[in-house]
Amino acid sequence: MKVAVFSAKKYDREGFNQWADSSLQFTYIESRLSSDSAKLAAGSHAVCVFVNDELNAAVLQQLSEMGIEMVALRCAGFNNVDLDAAKALGIRVARVPAYSPEAVAEHTIGMMLCLNRKLHKAYNRVRDDNFALDGLLGFNLFGKTVGLIGTGRIGLATARILHGFGCRLLCHDIVQNPLIAELGGRYVPLAELYAQSNVISLHCPLTPDTKHLINHYSIGSMQDGVMLINTSRGALIDSKAVIAGLKQRKIGYLGLDVYEQEADLFFENLSEQVIDDDVFKRLLTFPNVLITGHQAFFTREALQEICQVTSDNLLAFASNTATGNELAN
Ligand code: NAI
Repeated sequence: MKVAVFSAKKYDREGFNQWADSSLQFTYIESRLSSDSAKLAAGSHAVCVFVNDELNAAVLQQLSEMGIEMVALRCAGFNNVDLDAAKALGIRVARVPAYSPEAVAEHTIGMMLCLNRKLHKAYNRVRDDNFALDGLLGFNLFGKTVGLIGTGRIGLATARILHGFGCRLLCHDIVQNPLIAELGGRYVPLAELYAQSNVISLHCPLTPDTKHLINHYSIGSMQDGVMLINTSRGALIDSKAVIAGLKQRKIGYLGLDVYEQEADLFFENLSEQVIDDDVFKRLLTFPNVLITGHQAFFTREALQEICQVTSDNLLAFASNTATGNELAN
């Protein structure tokens, strides 16, 4: 089976070489999938895509006209795929639902600790022989209240670590996870979570209901100096509202691994280019903001799982069997 891999990086190529079934023939395409680049998939049976590839109705139509019958997402989130359009066109879609919840959870905790103990500043200071501690004062996570929005695989993995730290857990989800109670966690309405949490971490998917969940109104109901972490999807947050919250000192710490307009920025080396996204550049000016470029998933273990499960999904498509990872059939 011929598979066109969009947004392909060196590590994707190395991963598939090492862990995918050898009967799959991958063509690696650096571009993101969009209406402009879709033609590069000509001659393939399937496309393999990542978080910022565009699979709207128009792109899916183009793919269908070229005979593409399958989309293999090498990620868990699928907000970038028009599943109704795929279904109508008979294009089958599968994802990698849980390549490593712990990878994302551990990155989330890393962001919390880095911001709290100002490790990003300490690293630079010590390299400059500046061993002064002024400005590096942190707080204990032990005993603090952490609000988790979304308690699926990643939210639960994050809750487990925070439970070990001795945090009080307040959770919000449209479906309650019974394992949260075992960690001493309690489900509360969003208003209570916002009002009581010292740290708020987002682990729900991006849907029409969750878009800009964090906005002027919700930020206004949070504690002064709250720490806000988003390792889920950028558009859960209204970035302009967050900038206002930082300027008002309402938000004391902000950790982002995702950003609403990240498709134009992340996964590329733009260090020689002028970036004209003023919102992103403003976020980078705050001393209490830490941004990573959608790397929370990026561990060896997760990459291996992504490559193996994507390979299994493609083989299942080819043999008309199911893996349980299908989103549209
Ligand atoms: P999951 O499907 O296991 O859990 C998501 C949870 O969110 C579910 O419990 C669901 O009921 C809940 N939820 C849905 N709508 C909600 C709402 N309106 N309010 C509150 N909760 C709601 O997904 P998983 O594996 O935990 O992933 C969560 C998200 O993390 C993904 O959707 C993806 O966007 C993001 N992600 C980010 C990565 C990164 O590298 N930064 C890597 C992998 C996933």
